[in-house]
Parts: sequence; C-alpha cells; structure tokens
Amino acid sequence: MRNQLGDRSNKSANRPFSDVLSRYCSRRDVLRGGLQSAAAVFFVSSPVLSLAARKPGAKARPGLMDFTPLPVAGGGGKTPRIAPDYRMQVLIPWGEPINPSSGPAFAWPPNAADQEKQVGIGHDGMWFFPLEGSERGLLVLNHEYGTSRHILGRDPQSLDDVRVSQHAHGITIVEVVNGDGRWQHVDSRYARRIHVNTPVEFSGPAADSPLLTNPAGNPFAGTLNNCSNGHTPWGTYLTCEENIHFYFGGTGFTPNARQERYGLSARWTSFHGWSRFDPRFDLTNPGYVNESNRFGWVVEIDPMAPSAPPVKRTALGRFRHEGCAIAVGRDDRIVGYMGDDEQFEYIYKFVSDRSWKALRDEGSSPLDHGRLYAAKFNDDGTGEWLELTIDDPRLAAEFADQAEVLTFARRAADIVGATPMDRPEWTAVSPDGHVYCSLTNNARRNDADAANPLAPNPHGHIIRWRDDDHHVGTRFEWEIFLIAAETHGTEESLSSPDGLWADPDGRLFIQTDGSGQADGLNDQMLVADTESGEVKRLFEGVPGCEVTGIAVTPDRRTMFINVQHPGNGDPAETSFPLEFDGKTIPRDATIAIMRKDGGIVGS
Ligand code: FEO
Ligand code: CA
Ligand code: CA
Repeated sequence: MRNQLGDRSNKSANRPFSDVLSRYCSRRDVLRGGLQSAAAVFFVSSPVLSLAARKPGAKARPGLMDFTPLPVAGGGGKTPRIAPDYRMQVLIPWGEPINPSSGPAFAWPPNAADQEKQVGIGHDGMWFFPLEGSERGLLVLNHEYGTSRHILGRDPQSLDDVRVSQHAHGITIVEVVNGDGRWQHVDSRYARRIHVNTPVEFSGPAADSPLLTNPAGNPFAGTLNNCSNGHTPWGTYLTCEENIHFYFGGTGFTPNARQERYGLSARWTSFHGWSRFDPRFDLTNPGYVNESNRFGWVVEIDPMAPSAPPVKRTALGRFRHEGCAIAVGRDDRIVGYMGDDEQFEYIYKFVSDRSWKALRDEGSSPLDHGRLYAAKFNDDGTGEWLELTIDDPRLAAEFADQAEVLTFARRAADIVGATPMDRPEWTAVSPDGHVYCSLTNNARRNDADAANPLAPNPHGHIIRWRDDDHHVGTRFEWEIFLIAAETHGTEESLSSPDGLWADPDGRLFIQTDGSGQADGLNDQMLVADTESGEVKRLFEGVPGCEVTGIAVTPDRRTMFINVQHPGNGDPAETSFPLEFDGKTIPRDATIAIMRKDGGIVGS
C-alpha cells in the first residue's frame, strides 16, 4: 500500500528514546541538521549504530550474488526491466479466469459474477505450494486493494458495484506448471477465490467474544486488504489484513477511542464507497456495531483443502497486519513476527505454548495457543518482548479478558510501553536467526531515537534483531541493517523498503513501495548480502506501481513477484502488461523471474 495519509492513530506517550537522544546527541543538533546530517549525528554519537551492518565498500561474498546489476541509467521507463543475467515472464494479471479454459475471460469493467471467478486486483504477498517439486504448484496470492475508479471506472453507484469491488479483493489460488522453462497457468481442482463475502471462521481466545458479534446476527464473512503473508511448516498460508479502516464509513460517524485507535474516523468515510450500499460497512448502523472488529487479523488458509473455510487466528492479535514471517523456535514452538503498518506503530511476535507438532497431533492449531508480545527497542542495542496478557495488572485495569486485549492489541501495546516505529512493513526470518523488518518511512517523526534514527525519515530503513533462546526468548539484540537514504545517488539507490525475504544462503531480497524512488527509478527489487550489506538491483517495475510479494519454487530457480497498481490504473502512465497481453487497461500481474542459465535466483 502506498505511503499513508491521515492522522496518526497512536497518540500514546510511548517515546522511550527521548532521553536516549539527549544522552548521545543534543536535540538541537539533530533538528538543526538535514536528513543526512541527522543520521550522521546519531550514528556517530550512538554506540548502537556502530553495529550497523554495512561496512563502507564491503563487497558481497564471492558466488553469493555475482549477477550484473540493473543500472540506474535507463530507469524510470514504462515497462519493467530486469538484470541482464535474468529473464522474466508475466502471469495471471487481474481479471484472468482462475481456471483458464472454462472461466469468464477478462472484460473491462468486470461484473460481480465474473470477478469472483477471476484473479483479483492489487497482487501482494504470496507463496508457492508445490504439487510436483519445483515444476508444478499452487500460487496463493493476496489482493490488497484496487480502487473502484480503477476496477469500474467510477465510484460505486449501487450494491452491485460494491460487490465487484469486494470480489476483486481477497485471495486467489491458481495452479501453475513449468513447461520447459516457461510457466503456464492451468485449470485446477484447487483453483479458488476467497473474497469479502466468503464464509470464514474465527478461532483462538477471542473467537467467542461478544466483541465479534453483531445485533444483526450476520455470520462471519470475508477477508480484506490482504497485504503481506506467511506460511506454516504444516503447509498452510497466512494472509494478513492491513488497512481495514479504508472500507468502513458512515455519514455522521463519531468514533470512540478504541475505534479511533484503529483509524476508523469520519475522515475515511469509506474510501472505497462500500458503506453507502452495504450496511456491514456502515459504522453508524446499529445492527453491525462490531463488524469492524472482525477485520485486522491473521487468517489461515489451507490451499490443499478447497472446501475448508479460512480461519481468523485471534491469538495473533488485531492490528493493521502487514505480514507474519514464521520461524520454528526452540522445542519446535512456532513463532510469528508481525509488523503493524502505520507511523508510530509496533512490531509484534506470537510464540506458541508448545511444539507445533504436539499441538497438531492433539488436533489443536499451534496458532490458537500461545503468547503475543510487542517489541521495545532499548538504546543500548538490546530489546525486550513485552507480553500482552490480561495477567498484567496494567492491562487488567482496562480490559475485561484476553479476548479484549487481543481485539485491541494496539492499545494493550501502548500500555505496556512498546516502541513506536517508522511504519513496520514486512518481516523476514533468516536461517542464521536474524529477523529483519522494513521500516518504510515516516515523514511525521520529529524525535529521532536509536531504532528510528532519522527525523523525519523520508526513505526508510531496515532493522534486524536476534532473539534469545532460539526465537522464543523475551530478550533480543538489534542493529540497523540499512538506511535507505544513505544510498541515493549511487547504483544502490533505493527508497521505502517494504517487501522482504531472506533466503537460506544469506541473501535479503528487498522490494520498494515509494512514490519517490530516488534517481528517477520506478519501484524495484534489490538483493543484499546480509553479511557485507552490499546491495544489487535485480528488477525495476513500471511508473505508479509498487513491487511486492515474493514466492519461490523449492529449488529457488524461479521467483514470483508482483507488480501492484501499475500506473495507479492510468493508461497514460503505463500500459503494463499490454506488451505481454495486448489489453489496454494497466493490470496488476505476477512476474516469474529466472536466471538465463537456470541458476538460483539472486545469484
Ligand atoms: Fe500493504 Fe503496508 O503495505
Ligand atoms: Ca508500503
Ligand atoms: Ca507493503
């Protein structure tokens, strides 16, 4: 999702680093300097930042990422570019039938009945689930959002129009086959669309809470603004609900404090126009007072069980979830690292109580039994995971039970004193135990702190940490991995890091989402060596798009990524993927990336 507008939702006083700043450099020094000097002042002054991963001039380990990078020169064009050692192929644009031989062909504008049999819009997080090794599998992908002006050519004028938009959101599952180096989308018994009106279930501590029931008695349905993702060792997909506030509205609506904390406000009177025609999304309709509490969760989907409903896992908390990178921790406990994407929001982690294998053997979900924490980054490079539990007297003073704590996890994290970050986007877990989080940017930051060292922070940074006790401990050590603003004017130029994936060899894939990439570039994907910090550009998207979503085949010879909202729907900006499919409306699409010599992607 593009850089966010609007008021900050976090008005808590969690500013634990003001005193850090005054210890290491005077506030006057930081505010007086420009962006670069603010960073420099903080870096020079802080022992923490001497840990920053990048050593000047350091080069990647030999053999790790030897590819010739895509240069800055020639960037900013209307079609995608890829590094010269690579080739690419466009797949499954918005509107293609999920079963290509039998589904309705793309026609613009779509109708609601066709759209629910077609690939959605706003391609985002995704994963590849193998059916036959690296040659055949299911691509499961999120559809974060598309505006009705792009989908329909107008704001919604009826409930039918709203249904088209709702069916374009959600999840797509399609089957793809590699035939002699060229991927094909094929008919499949697994092909499936999940959208805003698909029946869903709730599970975990908040599942039976009255906070999730409505006077209207409407059943649980739908998932929306599906941003980034995760996947579990037991073969399921996790989709994460992010900007839920865009979909709710209502004339004359006045939010209560908890609604305001989640960004529900008259200001966003249904950005997508749904509340005018669908009472579920009308915040002033007394029949649906708790409908907004049903969104903002991590949702589990079993791609191999086409009739199984998606399940919202409430133990992982409710906020504007970006993604959920999974690690298997000590004693086979399952750990999920999650960002909450808004300025001054928090980083969270979930830890299952016991081994995921034991829990599944007992017929329980490992994602229903565990603890939720929010991160506090200390000035000295250490950090603490603060548990969000009703057993904490500070939380018991405000919340009735654990269900309420989880449903309003943002507020619980305010109370325990988590660290407000610069828009936490994706998380990624490296096999060496490091966890990475992209902090995409924060134009509103006035006070720099050790973990968010730029005030303001227009281009973002990437932080990494390592938890005690193999992911399950409550203490960690952290460092800044990359400051995006430092690399402008060089071949490593990038801004607004967002999508991340750490591969088993020590590469970090970095995707960007910033309308102002430096040096005239469109949004892009780069590869970094996690030891030396060297960065090389692999792919550049098209004007107006963001590059997001990463999935790989098990042999890592193919990587799938997405071009989201090309040209923001404006054909004058780009006609992508016209060059590939002859259609004239810019359409979100997946791109398969392969080395020309068949090697591992990133090498
Ligand atoms: Fe959906 Fe924060 O990007
Ligand atoms: Ca973003
Ligand atoms: Ca994102």
